[in-house]
Amino acid sequence: MSVLLINGSPHPKGCTYTALSAVAEQLEKNGLTTTMLQVGAKPVRGCIACGKCAEDGHCVFTDDPVNEAVDLLREAEALVVGAPVHYAGPCASACALLDRMFFRKSGPYAHKPAAAVVSCRRGGASASFDRLNKYFTIARMPVVSSQYWNSVHGNTPDEVRQDREGLQIMRTLGNNMAWLVRCIAAGKAAGIAPPAPEAWEPTNFIR
Ligand SMILES: Cc1cc2nc3c(=O)[nH]c(=O)nc-3n(C[C@H](O)[C@H](O)[C@H](O)COP(=O)(O)O)c2cc1C
Repeated sequence: MSVLLINGSPHPKGCTYTALSAVAEQLEKNGLTTTMLQVGAKPVRGCIACGKCAEDGHCVFTDDPVNEAVDLLREAEALVVGAPVHYAGPCASACALLDRMFFRKSGPYAHKPAAAVVSCRRGGASASFDRLNKYFTIARMPVVSSQYWNSVHGNTPDEVRQDREGLQIMRTLGNNMAWLVRCIAAGKAAGIAPPAPEAWEPTNFIR
């Protein structure tokens, strides 16, 4: 059973990575395997709303990690997305990646547990956390909680390591996610299937 962790930060070993690593360590202690995808410092385009992804489930742009993220999540049992806070929201490249990773591609993600983790120097953590959770809750993904809203504080990995409560929140999140992944696997083995979706009733308020 594997969990995909996406580090949305341009810093591959920065504060967000430090938080995600604490979650990953706990997942592994619980017997799960983990894969960390780095968004990195290269440009990630925004969604151009061409709708081509509806045809084959992949993005037309192939020069950034979006399609790799799509394929990795299809294989994984659960997802953790981490992002640094930039101007009180998740950083732009993380949002660009998630917009394109989720738009018209999220059917196969349904019922996979998911969680967001944010890293900030001082403020904007809970607004960023809320924004990231929106991707999961529109995609029928159960959101895994911890003992507080999932954030760490610090401007360097060393400072994050001093945020003892923040790291405890990450460990609790890892334990809770491992437990839910195991519960879902046990449910499947016992014949409990996820609920089938209703046919979509698109209702646009154009009158
Ligand atoms: C463009 C930019 C905007 C930022 N805005 C905020 C902010 O609104 N609130 C905050 O607390 N920190 C802000 N920061 C600091 C980062 O959130 C903080 O350093 C973060 O922990 C870095 O994580 P990373 O090492 O994973 O990139 C900002 C940093 C940058 C580069």
